[in-house]
This record gives sequence, C-alpha cells and structure tokens, in this order.
Amino acid sequence: MLSRFVTKTAVNKSAVSAMSKRYSAIISVHRESKLDNQNIAFEFNSENLKRADEIIAKYPPQYKKGAVMPLLDLGQRQLGFTSISVMNYVAKMLDMPPMRVYEVATFYTMYNRKPMGKYNIQVCTTTPCQLCGSDGVMKAIQDHLKVKPGQTTPDNLFTLQEVECLGACVNAPMIAVNDDFYEDLTPEATVDILKQFQAGKEPKIGPISGRESCEPHSGAKVLLGAEPTDLRKFTRADL
Ligand code: FES
Repeated sequence: MLSRFVTKTAVNKSAVSAMSKRYSAIISVHRESKLDNQNIAFEFNSENLKRADEIIAKYPPQYKKGAVMPLLDLGQRQLGFTSISVMNYVAKMLDMPPMRVYEVATFYTMYNRKPMGKYNIQVCTTTPCQLCGSDGVMKAIQDHLKVKPGQTTPDNLFTLQEVECLGACVNAPMIAVNDDFYEDLTPEATVDILKQFQAGKEPKIGPISGRESCEPHSGAKVLLGAEPTDLRKFTRADL
C-alpha cells in the first residue's frame, strides 16, 4: 500500500515538474539589485502625498493599514514598479511592520516587483480566452516583439506577461495594456495594436470586432431603444 502511494506521489511530482513555467508568477523573493535596493530613497511627490492623505483619511485611524493596497498602487504608478523602497515607505507611512507590506505586495500580481516597460502587456490565457484563441495572440506578440513572457524589450517599451482571467471573458481573447483592455482580438489585430504603440499612437480600447461592449456578436437583443438609466440619480454625487 505504502509503495503504491509513494509511486503515485512520484508520478505526480514528475508531472508537476514537467509543466511549463508560468510567468504570471514572476519571482517575488527580493534580491538587492542596482535598480531595487534599500539604499534607493523613495517618497511620494507632492501630488501623490496629497492623494495618499486623502486615501488614509477614508479609514479609521486605528485601521489606517487598510490603505496599504491603494498606497502601494500609488507608489508603483509613480516609480514604475513596486520596489523595496516603495514598500518600506508605505510601511512607515501606515505604521506597519514592513513584512506585512511585503506580504501584500508579493501576493497580488498587480504589483510588479521589477522594473517594467512603458507598456505592460498582460495576455490572459485562462480557459475562455484560450478557447477563443489566446495562444495565437500570445504567439503573435512574441513573434512581433521577440520577447517571452516575463521579459522586457530592449528599448524598454514593452513588458510581456501571461496572466490569469482579467474579467473580460465575454470579449475573449483579450489583453490588457497598462490600465486598458483590448478585446475580441485576433493575432493580426494584436500586432496592429502593438504597431500603433510603437508609432506613438493610442490604439482604440475595447472590442476590436465592432461590438460596442459585451452584447452578442449578432447584435443587441434586449433593452432596444430604452434610454440608459442615469445612475447619478441614485448614487452619491461624489461617486
Ligand atoms: S478568461 Fe480571459 S478575461 Fe476571463
């Protein structure tokens, strides 16, 4: 019985080790480097400092550590990535043990622990996107930019990442570039988007198929002619 169990375990282990490396899990262990070490000073610029104060004010004073995620995001947007100095600065600002901040920053894949290109391309390869052709989209990007997931182009323009579902499955396959989604993609359309970035243009965001949003490809079937509800009538003015 025991030997059967050991054999089964060994087989599973072998299967796991044979899996291709998933670059969506970029290494989260900190290694001191020229661009990311504790001697590089970091602090928010005046605009972000004001924004940070506004964010912290949303939390009761004893729970201000709840602001750790938006502050890390703020730091990443200012510096370009979530360096050890960004994490230490946020920890100090929120009176948190630095380790608690490291735990957050290394758990969520939205925090980039290494310098990124100007355009952070995230290719979703989860099941709905894969069934709709994300493998072709990924290959087209790799062939065009000559980088693999986890790598940045030599001109620092693009970093390529493979990620899990980004929540736009109805418009699969899709990629995110920085904060914007490009959907209903084909390999050709994806390369066209990259070329526009390379030419300094801003490609149109959203579905490239002509769909307005996530209505059926054959056209909207419901709420035809209805005026969209003005949500501002029902929500707070500051939302
Ligand atoms: S599976 Fe790709 S966005 Fe959900």
